[in-house]
Amino acid sequence: MKMEQPVTTSAPAQAVSPRKWMTPDIVRQAEQLLSRMSLEDKVGQMTQYDWGFNPINPETGVSQRDLLLEEIRQGRVGSIFNLSGAEEANELQRAIQEHTSQQIPLLIGRDVIHGYKTVFPIPLAQASAWNPDLARRTAEAASRESLADGVAWVFAPMIDVSRDPRWGRIAESIGEDPLLTSQYAKAWVEGAQIDDGAGQATASCPKHFAGYGLAEAGRDYNTVDLSDHVLREVILPPFREAVDAGALSIMASFNEVNGIPVCANPYLLKTILRDEWGFEGIVASDYNALQELIVHGVAGSEEEAAERSILAGCDMDMHSGFYMRHLPKLVREGRVPERLIDESVLRILAVKIKLGLFEQPYVAIPPAEAAAEARATFTELAREAARESIVLLRNEGQVLPLRKEGVSIAVIGPLADNSKDPLGCWAMDGNPADVISLLEGIRQAAGAEAGAAIHYAEGCAIDADGEDGFEAALEAARQADVVVLALGEALEMSGESRSRTSLDLPGAQRKLVQAVAALGKPVVAVVLSGRPLALPWLQEHAAAIVQAWHLGVQSGHAIADVLFGDYNPSGRLSVTFPHNVGQVPIYYYRKKTGRPPAGVYSSYYIDSTTEPLYPFGYGLSYTSFEYSSITADRTSMSANGDLNLSVTVTNTGDHEGEEVVQCYIRDEVASVTQPLKKLIGFRKISLRPGESANVTLNVQSDSLAILDQDMKLTTEPGDFTVWIGPNASAGQTITIKVVE
Ligand code: GLC
Repeated sequence: MKMEQPVTTSAPAQAVSPRKWMTPDIVRQAEQLLSRMSLEDKVGQMTQYDWGFNPINPETGVSQRDLLLEEIRQGRVGSIFNLSGAEEANELQRAIQEHTSQQIPLLIGRDVIHGYKTVFPIPLAQASAWNPDLARRTAEAASRESLADGVAWVFAPMIDVSRDPRWGRIAESIGEDPLLTSQYAKAWVEGAQIDDGAGQATASCPKHFAGYGLAEAGRDYNTVDLSDHVLREVILPPFREAVDAGALSIMASFNEVNGIPVCANPYLLKTILRDEWGFEGIVASDYNALQELIVHGVAGSEEEAAERSILAGCDMDMHSGFYMRHLPKLVREGRVPERLIDESVLRILAVKIKLGLFEQPYVAIPPAEAAAEARATFTELAREAARESIVLLRNEGQVLPLRKEGVSIAVIGPLADNSKDPLGCWAMDGNPADVISLLEGIRQAAGAEAGAAIHYAEGCAIDADGEDGFEAALEAARQADVVVLALGEALEMSGESRSRTSLDLPGAQRKLVQAVAALGKPVVAVVLSGRPLALPWLQEHAAAIVQAWHLGVQSGHAIADVLFGDYNPSGRLSVTFPHNVGQVPIYYYRKKTGRPPAGVYSSYYIDSTTEPLYPFGYGLSYTSFEYSSITADRTSMSANGDLNLSVTVTNTGDHEGEEVVQCYIRDEVASVTQPLKKLIGFRKISLRPGESANVTLNVQSDSLAILDQDMKLTTEPGDFTVWIGPNASAGQTITIKVVE
């Protein structure tokens, strides 16, 4: 069957960009409000606090919340986050209405990173689906579920490009590629920002602007030193997509960029965000980041930190209180023009107007049955998202999919009977009681109905050296036809402030694998982790390897769906898997260098390959796909032209399956060095056994553009090698030309 499936290789030009959401009517309403506000009222809007941070003063016995409630009543708080739910949200909104002069509703925020109570796969897992629209749907579900609890501002999506699996927050990211991250950024903002009329709306907050994912040594909060090329060609494109998609806010990151921490960095917050991109939304600092300007050593006092931040373009101060304590004085002393305060407050008021908070500051608590119905829908979506996030890395001898009938399966490992860790990082509203563990998923899929004999043993802990559970594990394995090993990381081992120097399985897991494998039974390894792990040794012991990340509440069902073939895995890696931590940072987007790896006196290691264990875009299927050679309607184009490349992809196996057709280019000779490969487009297609599809990729010249040596975006003439294939290391190739 022939299918025309044109794929644009760059974001389609938008007729009217949602970026310009601040209508004249919104501006007029905001200006009217502003005109009635005192300087303290204004700075109060720029102040945000963490309601979840509630120490008790040992001398006075007064809690932080008591103090905050008074601040709220004084109109000195514009936003609050980490509330416990709808009742508390309505209580604080009522305090605003009954005690403040201006009655400006609070903007209530929360970290809704990959789901709320219905926890979806971590973003790095969802990225493996190469399905931005699926992320749009999970983002919308998360916003709808959290809005019912009063959350009108979700601190998502996290769109920091990251190439370093030592960095714990790679779990929250979309991975290493700017194009894939950009498409997820757009979809996530569009999904997360729901708007069902007055008071039923949510703002997104793409973060962390910018460069946080390239922290040196993969150590969280560490120094970031970027060339303008890397900043503008790798780091910024996803944020630009998010802004163009109408993001109502952006979060400024903790880190410095080229010597200036972002909250004090006008090049990022003003020159790029406002002057170049026309961003109209709120720039919010990350947590206490104003106070960190003092620690960074770029501010000598709280007052100086407040001054540098407002002058750099940071609108809202998350939790330091520096703006409230110092901006009124700085304005009265003439060190900060009140105009800047007015501009920031206008944006904050405009977002609140846009969200309908003035019409409806309170959240209507949905009736129980409606909430239950919605929850069931979200849970189904969670299973769909989890299935599509799973990546099959190895399947020697087609040991997968497993039979269900009349088979004896040993399920062994610390991630098997485990319903906490599949929630993953940033799932503070998730409940382990809602999680289907891998063991439960297998039991329900094959134990109950199909009569398979399931033998379970934990074997060892996730991160301890004890081996006293090994014997029970070996006993379980001896009774089985096949062994499923559930390995990986605890949820606390990834996410914020969770960098690792090792990419191996923690604790005694490797020894457990070796002990079980020595029995000679077929072994299927399922790795549940928040990051790429470097496990080349696992291939010697496991015929099949399944990367199952931290998949959220439906983890066990989704993995069982894949293990038994009820779903043919379609995941493809959005981040490179290294052989060892010494190779890091390792990413497909790397440069050729003057001495490409080739042995002595080249850019290589004397003790390791330079190749990845599994490349970007890699993933196997239960079927196989064949690519025809590439045909082109023409092989040259002018610097503002385009051309179409086509391949026929055939499902040559006996399972229906999905393939992610990926298109990469290399600019062979350019005024500035170029990466070996750059993803410019992809298409996920589904094919029945024997079916073929003709996939056409429309290559536009702007997708070949580079920042030249003068930092001008230019499509330079010359030869471009194009690959179309299943991942960054394989594919059919053709050369095209851009002519003067
Ligand atoms: C954290 C994180 C940020 C989060 C914020 C509020 O430190 O860096 O991602 O949104 O504080 O919790």
